[in-house]
Amino acid sequence: MSAMTRGFANQNHECTEAMCEYYSRRARNDVGLILTEGIIIEPSGDGYNNVPHLSNDEQALSWKPTTKAVQHFGTKIFAQLWHCGRISHQDFTGGLQPVSSSAIRAEGTNRQNNKAFAIPRSLDASEIPKIINAFVNAAHLALTAGFNGVELHFGHGYLIDQFFDARINKRTDQYGGSVENRCRLALEITTAVLSVVGPEKLMVRISPSRYMGEIYEWDNKYQMLAFLIPALDNIGLRILDISCANANFYETAQPIIQEIREICHWEHVVIGGASLTLDDAKNEICAGRLDLVTWGRAILANPDFVQRMQENAELLEMTPEIRNRLF
Ligand SMILES: Cc1cc2nc3c(=O)[nH]c(=O)nc-3n(C[C@H](O)[C@H](O)[C@H](O)COP(=O)(O)O)c2cc1C
Repeated sequence: MSAMTRGFANQNHECTEAMCEYYSRRARNDVGLILTEGIIIEPSGDGYNNVPHLSNDEQALSWKPTTKAVQHFGTKIFAQLWHCGRISHQDFTGGLQPVSSSAIRAEGTNRQNNKAFAIPRSLDASEIPKIINAFVNAAHLALTAGFNGVELHFGHGYLIDQFFDARINKRTDQYGGSVENRCRLALEITTAVLSVVGPEKLMVRISPSRYMGEIYEWDNKYQMLAFLIPALDNIGLRILDISCANANFYETAQPIIQEIREICHWEHVVIGGASLTLDDAKNEICAGRLDLVTWGRAILANPDFVQRMQENAELLEMTPEIRNRLF
């Protein structure tokens, strides 16, 4: 089950009983691996209503019943760690101006409060260690909460993607400009979190080609991948999650994965998928592109997704009504 933001945490951004039941129901129905909804690593990194955070002990404690219940059914659960950067507004950051690689406002409207996204402020290089520490702290809290591991959310236009993207990142310091510099923050966070959790408990999610309202691709995506993927390999990362958000998998993620395998020589685990049929999923695995296939909306709408797939039964479509309810 891929990461899906739901917005049902309590006012302290803690996991609730209803959330526990939501995840347990999928585990009870044989989903093998659950990636949680994005969990915010520090309050100023928030950009949504009622999403969970992992920045203090109480928040970590609130996840314990969920990790325990899920693991009871033999399912593994990873916490997805997230900083929204400029995809935010003061309404969600406790009044603080959202941060980004540069002071460039995201286009469009924040659907959470129907206001324009805030004009972010550029992070000073001296503040970067705080961001890295917030990821490390959240990863540490996730382990104390009993998670099997963590996924770093480096995709979908959020903070780390705002450093990758040359159209947003206009910095002139060591975190901007060249491909190496734009990948630096991602590599520093990954190195730091690896030292806390180790390679078996860490996934990194990137989305070099994706659809979220519009098709979006990294500028010079192959040049970026040629540097980033071997660099992640060198520092010891072993699991990559290639997302295309809700784009067509074959037009976006699949060519990226092919590149990662054949040109970047990534021989470790790749997970991914977007609404694949069972035959297509098997084909991706047999072709050696994917090691694990994820589904999002289908598992959200069908808690008994695995049985339905096994029996070749019809799947319910995710509707706004289903999306707005936790079951
Ligand atoms: C309601 C919803 C919330 C999502 N939230 C997140 C998220 O928090 N983090 C993330 O990495 N992806 C998120 N995604 C993207 C999914 O993980 C997945 O990549 C996407 O839905 C494509 O897979 P699918 O076609 O099987 O649904 C979300 C998708 C949906 C539908």
